[in-house]
Amino acid sequence: MTIHRFDEVTSTNDKAREMVADGVPGGTIVIARSQTAGRGRSGRSWFSPSDDNLYISFIHRTTLDPRSCAGMTIDVGVVLAELLTRKGFDVELKWPNDVLLNGLKVAGILCELVTDGPHPVVIVGIGLNVNGSDFPAELNGIATSLLNASHEPHDIETLEEDLIRDLTQALNRYDARTTPNVEGYRKHFRMMGRQVLLAGGESAEVEGIADGGGLIVKTPEGSRTLRSGEVKFVGIDR
Ligand code: BTN
Repeated sequence: MTIHRFDEVTSTNDKAREMVADGVPGGTIVIARSQTAGRGRSGRSWFSPSDDNLYISFIHRTTLDPRSCAGMTIDVGVVLAELLTRKGFDVELKWPNDVLLNGLKVAGILCELVTDGPHPVVIVGIGLNVNGSDFPAELNGIATSLLNASHEPHDIETLEEDLIRDLTQALNRYDARTTPNVEGYRKHFRMMGRQVLLAGGESAEVEGIADGGGLIVKTPEGSRTLRSGEVKFVGIDR
């Protein structure tokens, strides 16, 4: 395992992608103190000021076929939820893989697949708001940090070491098992019965997590399982 540290990058996922093209081995990790163009899911940006938070990307080389990699993101969410629970935080997972603390987002996961070699490479990008306390106005009521929730600073290096250890184990376990850790996920899942808006604006009620990691929702037309995408909480999410 090699860790490459940078003061500033556009995005640790972009840096990781460049490294994949250069042929670095699996287990290579990119960590930056700040990002100038941190990326979130669905084309959003990820607020990435200097020093306060963790911005990290893991390069995971796997022999699984690309379709089987989709569930990995569920396991990454479980790793973060369990890590933060052990540190005393009462976190929940919002499907597919947002980590919420007091209903606000404390960590996000952006898994990207590179498929131009003989085997796929999964770049697992994680942003964890640790000691940042000032968020831009547009993140009011959306984002939080460990500091904001606990009113005390946390040691980023320790969190980093624990995360690297747990994530390495979880990704190797996923490769061996090829099914997501749904049991672990359900322990941190509290969306049951909640009203959500689906991507097309349709409203639905959450019924649970399917064994394959999808979200089961009930709409006026009946129940169905969403395999990808996101849902918004009615009245809270923008
Ligand atoms: C999301 O919740 O929308 C995903 C956010 C992922 C942010 C992390 S920060 C490290 C890595 N580099 C990026 O540009 N994005 C991910």
